[in-house]
Amino acid sequence: MELSQRTGIPASRIYGVATFYEQFHLEPHGRHTVRCCRGTACHVRGGHGMIQAVSRMLGVSDGQTTEDMRFTFETVACLGTCFLAPVIMVDNDYYGNMTSTKVRDILERYK
Ligand code: FES
Repeated sequence: MELSQRTGIPASRIYGVATFYEQFHLEPHGRHTVRCCRGTACHVRGGHGMIQAVSRMLGVSDGQTTEDMRFTFETVACLGTCFLAPVIMVDNDYYGNMTSTKVRDILERYK
């Protein structure tokens, strides 16, 4: 609302832009974004268990941010690397053929 008043741009247009582009968020976002694929190829190769493992490790559900603001956790329809299924992505890095045990080591790399 403040942005709308300052710029004279209707709040509905600002909201439309803020919710359309992935780079904008309406809630505070963590320093790192962990995306888990829930697509078919990943699902049949254990992706659902991966999503549960990441959620449990971070202590947050899909779309939430950890209390220390270190990670935001999201699930996505497909990361476009189905041949690596199951796949997770942390920021711009892809990790394929994931297992629950590998996840903890990978997340530790991101401070
Ligand atoms: S279904 Fe997981 S990367 Fe495409």
